[in-house]
Amino acid sequence: MRIGILGSGLMGGKLGTLFARAGHDVVFSYSHSQDKLKKLARKAGKTARAGTPADASRDADAVLLAVHWSRLEDVLHQAGDLKGKVIVTCSLPMSENDSTLVIAHASSGAEALAWGVMFVVMPLSGIFYPVESLPTVLQPIALALPTTHAFAALRGLVDGNGLDWAQLGIAAAETVGFAILAGWFLVRSLRIFRRRGLITRFT
Ligand SMILES: NC(=O)c1ccc[n+]([C@@H]2O[C@H](COP(=O)([O-])OP(=O)(O)OC[C@H]3O[C@@H](n4cnc5c(N)ncnc54)[C@H](OP(=O)(O)O)[C@@H]3O)[C@@H](O)[C@H]2O)c1
Repeated sequence: MRIGILGSGLMGGKLGTLFARAGHDVVFSYSHSQDKLKKLARKAGKTARAGTPADASRDADAVLLAVHWSRLEDVLHQAGDLKGKVIVTCSLPMSENDSTLVIAHASSGAEALAWGVMFVVMPLSGIFYPVESLPTVLQPIALALPTTHAFAALRGLVDGNGLDWAQLGIAAAETVGFAILAGWFLVRSLRIFRRRGLITRFT
């Protein structure tokens, strides 16, 4: 297998050496020093050589991307067309001094979006009670939400009228319906993202 190494530092240097010693053709590239790349290739063995990022990616079956993420744009620009090639990367969004992750270390965009959705869902879930007190146009939406029926069931319990199992049953059925819909949406979105190359595979 031909493997191009884009970024020949700690990760690229070591992994490229392991690949070469396992018998793969390896091209080390992207360093401040061409001598360092040549030395790496000599140490890695007969199947390794030094080159430019364009050399490393040309004819490669797979490319290892191992640069600080601030160098990604530059190295990819130098590598040229990578269409159709397998790209494996260990690059992480680290700060300039590599001490901390600069994105995705505390929360996710999806999580922030999910919290925002609550502000729409909750007012339609029986906070304005009964549902008939809502504007006519909003009532079908409220009735389609499992939370409306779950709250209705619990409201009966709090009022001392016992648990309304019918309302709870509707809430459960709607929850299952939404879960199926969400699963279908997720699978469909992932297929589209993969087809268009919009997500990176980390495993
Ligand atoms: N090290 C780890 O334990 C580890 C673990 C997991 C993930 N990672 C991630 O993997 C990626 C690579 O890490 P690393 O530790 O291998 O980094 P590194 O040792 O700093 O290697 C980066 C490579 O890019 C080259 N480079 C940087 N700027 C350049 C420029 N302007 N022009 C030409 N070459 C340039 C460096 O050149 P020189 O050869 O001249 O230095 C070096 O060969 C990072 O995103 C890091 O966060 C690292």
